[in-house]
Amino acid sequence: MDDAPTHVTADGRRVVVAAAIESRGRLLAARRSRPESLAGGWELPGGKVEPGEDPARALVRELLEELGVDIEVVGAVHGPDGGDWPLDDRSVLRVLRARIDRGDPEAGVAHDEVRWLAPRELGSVPWLEPDVAPAAAAALRIDTW
Ligand code: C5P
Repeated sequence: MDDAPTHVTADGRRVVVAAAIESRGRLLAARRSRPESLAGGWELPGGKVEPGEDPARALVRELLEELGVDIEVVGAVHGPDGGDWPLDDRSVLRVLRARIDRGDPEAGVAHDEVRWLAPRELGSVPWLEPDVAPAAAAALRIDTW
């Protein structure tokens, strides 16, 4: 339906979008600086889709706000059921593949460090728990991107 909400799933959970961005065989990871409960955890950068917002558009907005880069969404990293990844009771993580059109990612308001990780370096940072599986799935595909 045209008027189906874009920011929640059919079962009413909030959609959080996250970016799998590859460059030169490495995956972009960012360390949260806030809120305190997440600080120090590494994630695929992203954030909540706002009501009425297209998820890909939301990811473009979040990456510009948080890391100062213009991105283009080019695909998805599908979760266990061919779609979203589990986040918590109220939300799901939708991981979209993207490439950077302009800028170099820099930590800003939500992060205090960014790194480009080779697939074998994925385990060198403490990921937020929901990001562990999608980051591994994204890294597995890096060779084929
Ligand atoms: O970035 P934002 O705070 O809007 O994301 C909403 C919530 O989704 C976070 O509090 C965090 O728990 C979760 N999240 C996550 N992994 C991501 C992005 C967000 O676990 N890559």
